[in-house]
Amino acid sequence: MTTTVMGTPTPDDAVRTRLLSGSVDLDAAVSVWQLANTARGKVPDEKRRTRVRTKLTETGALPLVAVQAGEVVGMALAEPGRDEDGVGAPLPYLCHISMVFVHPDHWGRRIGERLLDTIAEHAARHGHLVLQLWTGQANHRAQRLYRRAGFRPTGRTTYLPTGQPIVHLTRTIAPASR
Ligand SMILES: CC(C)(COP(=O)(O)OP(=O)(O)OC[C@H]1O[C@@H](n2cnc3c(N)ncnc32)[C@H](O)[C@@H]1OP(=O)(O)O)[C@@H](O)C(=O)NCCC(=O)NCCS
Repeated sequence: MTTTVMGTPTPDDAVRTRLLSGSVDLDAAVSVWQLANTARGKVPDEKRRTRVRTKLTETGALPLVAVQAGEVVGMALAEPGRDEDGVGAPLPYLCHISMVFVHPDHWGRRIGERLLDTIAEHAARHGHLVLQLWTGQANHRAQRLYRRAGFRPTGRTTYLPTGQPIVHLTRTIAPASR
């Protein structure tokens, strides 16, 4: 007979990160993206949902999910970096992180950090030297996560079409992890 002790973590309770794979993962990742946006007051429309689905399946992209007990609790997307803020030639040294989203019920559990670590490991294996991302100047929660994960502001600021300022952060990849 198996005895289950309430509150004792089992291996299934561990959060694991892995590549997004298949339509069930894709639906779950888009759902987490939508819930996380909604929780911060940015309810996404159908056009943005479709755009996110497309980006998660683009060639060369690295879409990740964080999974706990079979449930997708976080998602992230990294892409090959390009010059001219994404429209120019590929920059082999650069990995661009375009999404990090955690299900609001799981905020504060360092799941975002796990996703960033996995991106960094992947980027190092692919010879990238720098990780970059943009985030809202007013998104203090995300900035705390990125600062803890080693990202620093470059001093560049730009504006979304909505007028919201976003700041540019980068992090080098430690030689030990290359
Ligand atoms: C930003 C985000 C990815 C952080 O992921 P996470 O796994 O919760 O990250 P952490 O556990 O490291 O927490 C980061 C910070 O969030 C804040 N935070 C944590 N739990 C929180 C909660 N329940 N409610 C409000 N803020 C909380 C804290 O300031 C924390 O930093 P601290 O622990 O140093 O004080 C997640 O909050 C999210 O999905 N937010 C909405 C989407 C978003 O803004 N993505 C980034 C776009 S660039």
